[in-house]
Amino acid sequence: MRKPLIAGNWKMNGSAELIEAFGQAFAEDGFSSSAEILIHPPFPYLEAARRAFSGTCIEIGAQTLNPLHSGARTGEVSGQMLREFGVEYVLVGHSERRQLYQEGDEQVYDRALAALSVGIKPILCVGETLEERDGGQTEAVVLRQVGHVMARLEPEQRRRVAIAYEPVWAIGTGRTATPDQAQAVMASIRRYQAQFDRELADELRLLYGGSMNASNASELLAQEDIDGGLIGGASLKVDDFKAICQSAG
Ligand code: PGA
Repeated sequence: MRKPLIAGNWKMNGSAELIEAFGQAFAEDGFSSSAEILIHPPFPYLEAARRAFSGTCIEIGAQTLNPLHSGARTGEVSGQMLREFGVEYVLVGHSERRQLYQEGDEQVYDRALAALSVGIKPILCVGETLEERDGGQTEAVVLRQVGHVMARLEPEQRRRVAIAYEPVWAIGTGRTATPDQAQAVMASIRRYQAQFDRELADELRLLYGGSMNASNASELLAQEDIDGGLIGGASLKVDDFKAICQSAG
């Protein structure tokens, strides 16, 4: 039985005030969800998040990390530093990082490895552009992105990775993949994993991301191979994010 994972990716949004609001809202009596719940705030809010979320069910994720432990990398943050702030998960391969910061499959692998080496669980983001979908390339692109990381990890490392399928054309556009479209890709990721590790394929948590919101979450999360969500815009609104967490059961 896979425990659902609902992760809020704030990107370069939010404020110290919003962190407080989430801490208070999730500390209220009456909130319950069977999901594991994460917020990925921008780096400067990590310490405030650690304080505000302690005593709630929210765990802390980061949005990226540098593959090195330390060194002359102005502006960058290492996994070791994130670990000191109680970070449990980190996003790697988000399409905004791939597109705007030219992070290719190899850099995504390096980041996943760096996270695992300090005990942080990577959420590997994969997904096709609209052009790739229209060209019938969806499965090839997604499985290449998955394989480039997963096939090279040790079995013990693979077990600590979750995969987020986020079609690029659905991110921040208000255009969600249909439950059938999302399920089809998730099923192919699981089948791919099963080829070399059946047990892992059964345990692997697959999240859908791309304009998931309080209205469409239930239907997406009801799909057999969708075990959670990676939520951008709707994770900045306390009530919407709570509703999505509750849709997970
Ligand atoms: P969105 O973003 O929910 O705003 O589409 C999802 C993501 O980029 O992780």
